[in-house]
Amino acid sequence: MAFLAAVGRCMRGNPMPFVQESTRPDQSTMSFPPAIRPDAIPRHIAVIMDGNGRWAKAQGWQRIKGHRAGADAVTRCVEACNDLGVEFLTLYAFSTENWQRPKSEVAALMTLLERFLKEQSGRMVADNVRLQAIGRLTDLPQSCQDELHRCIEATSQNSGVTMILALSYGSREEIVDGIRSLLRNVSEGHLDSAMITPDVVSKHLYTRYFPDPDLLIRTSGEMRLSNFLLWQCSYAEIVILQKFWPDFQKEDLYQSVRDYQKRQRRFGAV
Ligand code: FPP
Repeated sequence: MAFLAAVGRCMRGNPMPFVQESTRPDQSTMSFPPAIRPDAIPRHIAVIMDGNGRWAKAQGWQRIKGHRAGADAVTRCVEACNDLGVEFLTLYAFSTENWQRPKSEVAALMTLLERFLKEQSGRMVADNVRLQAIGRLTDLPQSCQDELHRCIEATSQNSGVTMILALSYGSREEIVDGIRSLLRNVSEGHLDSAMITPDVVSKHLYTRYFPDPDLLIRTSGEMRLSNFLLWQCSYAEIVILQKFWPDFQKEDLYQSVRDYQKRQRRFGAV
């Protein structure tokens, strides 16, 4: 019964406490790659992992092989974030639009996700990685949902990087769900519409437990947001990498952080 209650909570929202204060590890015990300033590490990095299909095609392989290689790149990216003390990493793993792909590719991606969670759960615990997920998670096959929640529970006490998988995620759908939640609160008398501010809206999004991304990385050279964290990335610095996602190495993450550290973030001020 307790397990079911936990699953129900995860499905409707997220059981994590709201994270405002930094949970960054003690940097004095860490060694950083060259030319990275420990005092300016982004708290939250978001990644559009693009180019799996083209990577596979370039080698004359089926698209699913690209997705499999993409899953290995996920592991390298998480490791690199842990190396730097990044607190949150959001990965665009499956969009609401991705349901329109051929049935066989969708099924293969779901199988890959489930296997990834099964195989990586022990490693995530050992590497102090905490798993979270955002999106319309109840759209996923039941076995994927079960594995996801088992893995979220198993890693919930970890204090290293929080890896947030965006699954059946679409930013516009998230905003629609947020508006519905706001309207419900107003009609039930818990909220005065005059009190709705950007902060209040943020607290009705799937990401309400996490700070906004500081850095958004997209691979494969495309310059689009593709319905990913549109509200949350208002002030994110954007780095576009020319390589396909399966070729992503830890050094690419480090280099993206170096580029980020050269930017002047003014948040609309002077
Ligand atoms: C975009 O490449 C990638 C996806 C739609 C899926 C992302 C999935 C992974 C990286 C692998 C699995 C992830 C986990 C967490 C296990 P694309 O297929 O659109 O590539 P293309 O633009 O070259 O066709």
